[in-house]
Amino acid sequence: MATRRVTRRFRRPVPPPAALRAPGARVEPPKPRAPQRGPVGVRTPVIEFRGVSKSYGRTDPAVEQATFTIERGEFVFLVGSTGSGKSTLMRLLIKELEPTEGHIRVAGHELAQIERGKVPFYRRNVGVVFQDFKLLPNRTVYDNVAYALSVTGQSRRQIRTKVPDVLRLTGLSTKLHHYPDQLSGGEQQRVSVARAFVNHPPLLLADEPTGNLDPETSIGIMQLLYRINRTGSTVVVATHDSGMVDKMRRRVIELDAGRIVRDEATGLYAARDETTREFAARLRADLASRPDVDRAAAMARPPIPPRAPASGPVEPRPAPRPAPGPRGRHDRSRTARGSSTPTIRPPRPDR
Ligand SMILES: Nc1ncnc2c1ncn2[C@@H]1O[C@H](COP(=O)(O)OP(=O)(O)OP(=O)(O)O)[C@@H](O)[C@H]1O
Ligand SMILES: [Mg+2]
Repeated sequence: MATRRVTRRFRRPVPPPAALRAPGARVEPPKPRAPQRGPVGVRTPVIEFRGVSKSYGRTDPAVEQATFTIERGEFVFLVGSTGSGKSTLMRLLIKELEPTEGHIRVAGHELAQIERGKVPFYRRNVGVVFQDFKLLPNRTVYDNVAYALSVTGQSRRQIRTKVPDVLRLTGLSTKLHHYPDQLSGGEQQRVSVARAFVNHPPLLLADEPTGNLDPETSIGIMQLLYRINRTGSTVVVATHDSGMVDKMRRRVIELDAGRIVRDEATGLYAARDETTREFAARLRADLASRPDVDRAAAMARPPIPPRAPASGPVEPRPAPRPAPGPRGRHDRSRTARGSSTPTIRPPRPDR
């Protein structure tokens, strides 16, 4: 019976308001209110982390003593440089990983108490969007989304209604019969959002959803996530896209080496203006820890010239060269934190 309780304790999002509904979309009748935990009038947070740590081995923990709550209907950005623990935190939330320490509750459920066999039922309530889309290459757009419903045991009739609805909502009505390789990156990501949202999950997680997309397409995907959030789903987005985070001004939780170092209600990507030295140090650290960038080149500092004799002329240091790196769509080395929008500020006097 634990399964049924897992599903029932989630509060279903309200149906989308008329303004957000695709024309002709069928509106499901509201589900009965799920029982709330705790004293009457006290809402159960959708996500609760209490002293959560996760170590992969003997190395430093990927997530360390994380404590926070996320309420129903919130839109939260999870930011932090590469390796700071964002994906680990997401994977803990979908129970792909178990914490080494601490407690995680989702909609009032202690995740540790969900048995292995019940995990697929739990995951029906959590939509997940990945950076690399993870679409089935030999299935059409329609079938990719329908598949997500069929594996949760929904009837053909439900599938025939829900799939066109969600594809209209995500702007894909004209691409139903296309295969993933016939779509642009932005369209593929829309399919993956449609697939994550087709069950109207109360919680939607997106790990770097715009990491492979250009700025304009990224805005479209963020708009879509925002639209989904407005239907009542709680949305958590892990991202490097500082430009986007700054523009959206939602809650920001920042991780640094696995620790939560900032939690702001309407934050900007960077907590404050950095000095040019801090900026350069962050860039170097960020580039150096990326596997797709030549580590040695990223760390390369200008060679220190031999000391000039006290009386002789002083040779100027050669200017540092940018690290050579791949120049593909997913090249983050050009920008401060992998943002597709350049974030380099005009030079300022050092503080
Ligand atoms: N499967 C794994 N085995 C061992 N260590 C891992 C594993 N996955 C992640 N790590 C380590 O855990 C730390 C956090 O990684 P994680 O992927 O959560 O970071 P991230 O913030 O998502 O980074 P990025 O922005 O690059 O995606 C890193 O030091 C990483 O090397
Ligand atoms: Mg990650």
